[in-house]
Amino acid sequence: MADPSAPVRGQSPSAIDLTAAEGCRHGFPHELFTTLRREAPVFWQAFPEGVAGSEDEGFWVLSKHADVQAANRDTELFSAMDGPSLASNPQMRGRMLVSMDGRDHIRQRQLISAGFTPRMVGQLEEQARRWAVSIIDRALERGTCNFVQDVAYPLPMHMIADVIGIPVEDRPWLFDLTTDFLAAGDPERGLSRAQQLALQARMFEYAQKLGQHKRESPQDDIWTILSTVEVETADGERSQLSQIELDLFFLLLTIAGSETTRNAIALGLLALLEHPDQLETLRREPDAMRPAVEEILRWSSPVSYFARRATRDTKIRGVPIAKGQRITLWYPSANRDEEVFREPFRFDIARTPNPHLAFGGGGAHFCLGANLARREIAILFEELLARTRKIEVLRPPTYSALGIWNPILVVPKEIPVRLA
Ligand code: HEM
Repeated sequence: MADPSAPVRGQSPSAIDLTAAEGCRHGFPHELFTTLRREAPVFWQAFPEGVAGSEDEGFWVLSKHADVQAANRDTELFSAMDGPSLASNPQMRGRMLVSMDGRDHIRQRQLISAGFTPRMVGQLEEQARRWAVSIIDRALERGTCNFVQDVAYPLPMHMIADVIGIPVEDRPWLFDLTTDFLAAGDPERGLSRAQQLALQARMFEYAQKLGQHKRESPQDDIWTILSTVEVETADGERSQLSQIELDLFFLLLTIAGSETTRNAIALGLLALLEHPDQLETLRREPDAMRPAVEEILRWSSPVSYFARRATRDTKIRGVPIAKGQRITLWYPSANRDEEVFREPFRFDIARTPNPHLAFGGGGAHFCLGANLARREIAILFEELLARTRKIEVLRPPTYSALGIWNPILVVPKEIPVRLA
């Protein structure tokens, strides 16, 4: 295997094009970011001429841990209003948790925080274990399966569905729709923008029906809270969340809660299988799971970047950033930063300390589902290791390169495995 810590042979930073999806066909382009960290830690990436998707001319790429963390925490200097994606999306501006600043953001975040406290996550734990057992047993009955779709995907989907309050009978249909929607950005699938929007419209339609149902018969779940709550607007009025706000919340929760955790589990399995000694340690020593989950998160870093916009002229490492320019915070790169992690390209389940930024840099938008995701990953591997003697990858994994407009950028598509 090529050494990812070596700079890309013959590639100077100026030749780098992060907007080309091909660079991600085999996973996150770590080699390229190693070059950037070393040679151009604050790097301007211009959009190719004629690109449709953004009105900006390009964006700044922050690849160092310290810079990603500092920019993430300074929400006054770097606004989240235009959302995490580099794609222009005026419809979402100020209307979705991830595309809000200041008091509006705090207010909306408080609304759903109740669903994610450590106490709530503790209560979900038993449910998570039941789902994990049934998912793994089904895969064991079949013997061979696509680990991504058949094991890593259903647990986070069921957990987020439990948190939102989606009836079990709706889930097969909704999970299929979500799978289609998540894969829609993969250029290989060739879906037109209109087809992608049609999938989104079906998800919104379902969210609306669910809201209606919760208003008629309220339950102890997040969708009841969001569909009935009254919030105070900036001018002191009280009103319910608008339909578009609710629609976008639904989209955010289903995507944020599923795809990310799925990728961590899938890439975590690959890392463990490549390090059988560490896998055996995990089988023998239950206490090893907690730091192992942190290493899986650092290693997999399922979110590639989140974007922000500079609210005034500033400088990072002496490089001038103009007011209005977009910056991007690259979490997988921060998590391989040689200045923070000793031997960053070594997977080590006992790594301590492990100040990874997989859930963000500790700023106002820090991942709300971090506790839930950590527990899901731990439970899935606990049950998988308890129920299997042997896990074998049958063919090399394949990846979907989702393109620069999707902050997740690249996801494992197929990991064919045999479970015994
Ligand atoms: C391994 C799994 C996960 C990873 C790597 C991950 C990563 C992230 C990252 C990087 C952010 C942006 C943080 C920032 O801008 O500072 C974020 C935000 C968020 N995540 Fe997660 N996430 C995961 C799982 C989840 C789950 C399971 C849920 C919900 C059930 C969730 C819900 C959210 C929400 C609602 C936000 C937006 C918070 C805000 O803007 O205030 N995430 N996540």
